[in-house]
Amino acid sequence: MIAVPGGRSPGRARLAAFGAYVPEHRLTNADLELQVDTTDEWIVSRTGIRERRIVAADQATSDLAILAANEILRSAGLRGDEIDVLIVPTCTPDYLFPSVAAITAHAIGAHAAAAFDIQAACSGFIYGLAQAVGLVESGLAQHVLVVGAEVFSRVTNPHDRGTCILFGDAAAGALVVRDEDGGASGFLGFELGADGGKSDQLVVPVGGTRHPASEPFDPEDAFVHMNGREVFRFATRVIEDSVLRLLEHLELTIDDVDLLVPHQANQRIIDHAIGRLGIDPERVFNNLEHYGNTSAASIPLALAEARDAGALQPGMRVMMVGFGAGLTWAACLARYEPK
Ligand code: ACO
Repeated sequence: MIAVPGGRSPGRARLAAFGAYVPEHRLTNADLELQVDTTDEWIVSRTGIRERRIVAADQATSDLAILAANEILRSAGLRGDEIDVLIVPTCTPDYLFPSVAAITAHAIGAHAAAAFDIQAACSGFIYGLAQAVGLVESGLAQHVLVVGAEVFSRVTNPHDRGTCILFGDAAAGALVVRDEDGGASGFLGFELGADGGKSDQLVVPVGGTRHPASEPFDPEDAFVHMNGREVFRFATRVIEDSVLRLLEHLELTIDDVDLLVPHQANQRIIDHAIGRLGIDPERVFNNLEHYGNTSAASIPLALAEARDAGALQPGMRVMMVGFGAGLTWAACLARYEPK
């Protein structure tokens, strides 16, 4: 990408297309009953999850991202070489480096694109959208792909019943396009934040520079460690707060939201938010029953399915909200404008 600040006339960003890919293999609650001391009844009543998708042995995160990115391009009628920037939100990359985005850009023919990953865990897709809007509305880019991609099954301890029941693998994302019609942005606003004081509540201890994999380590520390109760408390508070702060700033109310798409982590967290926000459950889209928590892929996977199901229609205002390791949170209100 060649970008000249101020080189283009002011433009507006538009949320134009979605696409997703999920691996074929389904891991059901019945399968997990054979793996750890748990029951389908416990998992469904505590989380709402019935099954999740798991990658094949030869698949890594970029393999999922490539398939999702191609699906977005197909749905938008674009070629890879028309993409200026490819952003991959992920906290389960193929490698510490190179980025998943660079590998993906090459594979989809985005030869002129800038490509980079961002790490904000399950909030990553909305963080990525904020980056995309900044690039597009400043005139630096015309077409930006944001593809959340995660293979949590490779960092989840199969013997830890507190975490192995929650996560699934997927990639999904969106295309942000620049229009020159001079109208108001298709993105009404963002509310993003992080509280690193709670960074130890959700962590993969080994593999970075604090505890490198080049030194001896307890194999269990290569997996997700989570204080489920603390993350639950954080999530229930922050989803409501983030949505209300954004709406208040925009001088809107929950009635101005046509569809709420929350991070698909736990049905109880979502139900709590629905109750506190006073939104009609009919205006909330969920699919975690089938995929579990797919982290940075979860919101765009739900958006793609909402579109396919007719729950997300052109022109609708959709509120996305998520939370994750960091601990981070993010909300975004945007209009879906395929054309
Ligand atoms: N099956 C059966 N029993 C279980 C299971 C299981 N899979 N997991 C835990 N238990 C037991 C516990 O051992 C405990 O038993 P005890 O009372 O004898 O000690 C009991 O169930 C209750 O455990 P809690 O941890 O209090 O269960 P809780 O109702 O909080 O549910 C859960 C646990 C589902 C993990 C919940 O805390 C949660 O969803 N937290 C949020 C997690 C989350 O969303 N994380 C993703 C963040 S996104 C990212 O960035 C990756």
